[in-house]
Amino acid sequence: MAKNFLPDQYERTQVLGINHNYLHDQFADVDAILGKVREVVVQGDFTLGRAVDRLEQRYAAMLGARFAVGLNSGTDALRLGLIAAGVKPGDEVITTTYTFYATIGAIVTVGARPVFVDVGDDYNIDPAKIEAAITPKTKAILPVHWSGRPCLMDEIGRIAAKHGLKVIEDACHAVQATFDGRFAGTLGDVGCFSFHPLKNLNVWGDGGILVTNDEAIANHVRLIRNHGLIDRDHCEIFSFNSRLDTVQAVVADHLLDKLDHITATRIRNATALDQGLAGIQGVRPPTRNARLKEVFHLYCIECERRDELQAFLIGKGIDAKVHYPIPMHLQPAARDWGYKVGDFPRAERLCASELSLPVHEFIRPDQTAEMVARIGEFYGSARV
Ligand SMILES: Cc1ncc(COP(=O)(O)O)c(C=O)c1O
Repeated sequence: MAKNFLPDQYERTQVLGINHNYLHDQFADVDAILGKVREVVVQGDFTLGRAVDRLEQRYAAMLGARFAVGLNSGTDALRLGLIAAGVKPGDEVITTTYTFYATIGAIVTVGARPVFVDVGDDYNIDPAKIEAAITPKTKAILPVHWSGRPCLMDEIGRIAAKHGLKVIEDACHAVQATFDGRFAGTLGDVGCFSFHPLKNLNVWGDGGILVTNDEAIANHVRLIRNHGLIDRDHCEIFSFNSRLDTVQAVVADHLLDKLDHITATRIRNATALDQGLAGIQGVRPPTRNARLKEVFHLYCIECERRDELQAFLIGKGIDAKVHYPIPMHLQPAARDWGYKVGDFPRAERLCASELSLPVHEFIRPDQTAEMVARIGEFYGSARV
């Protein structure tokens, strides 16, 4: 049976020295946030209150988007975004097989069918493979900016325009990432972000936000996140309750002030890891692309003898993780769609060789150096 609590995860992070989990540090200023939460309580401003308004305005302004709508999770940002973009039961949505379950869950719970495409060497959907997956039922493309690395959005936009498809961006990893200087999440019709506790901008539970430049989409999402109500006594469409909780909006708004620092520190750490790992035989960080600003929600590498390296690093107190070992087309939940091993070889190879190293803003330079040294030690320091 599914559990509410994942004890192994919490126990593991208590014994390791260099961790993926950094919430303890992230919310060291808990009292400052509690002071702001107190105002919500005093004002009784609990649902869609002033804090939600303020966050939506600041978030849209930060990304240069016309509208932002707070929702109860990144998953619902995707789900309501798909609906507002016109995706209906029976439609097909083209997406990557190398993603988190929520991307696919959002498509499926709208009643549409995900059609998978392989990734490229950037771990993102390979635009060269998209057109072959288009059928008369295709309604949208859903690229995922995996690990905070933007997809090749010019090519995806060109294909979408040619075939009359909507683009819903899963930017849950990618707040402040850019492609050719434009923010991830503002490059398609809808951009979806998560405030899950381990995301770059996070809250004290679940939360998400959707951005768009399309007023009709923004209005529709505002309607369907709040029971379809146009006012207290009139319901336009029977719908969801997917409001961003006001308390969570306070937390996100507080962290927004720190986001430039969070992003810059993640980039600093990733650069140190790139430089340190370059040339260690057995490890391959992805090649960087000067058109992109990556924000390193995850720092991913491909490596030989991945499982052994992971066990070795954990033994040395370094929380190396696998994101994730099984691609979406090979999940039990995908059984009815007829995919098999070998359908998407690049993603399958990635699932067998990927390792993520802690890169967040509380990782110090001596800790990136320690990770590099341990990986060099594992591979016998052999340099290419
Ligand atoms: C790529 C991706 N998309 C969507 C989501 C869903 O976000 P949430 O957990 O806020 O529903 C996640 C969350 O972890 C994610 O990693």
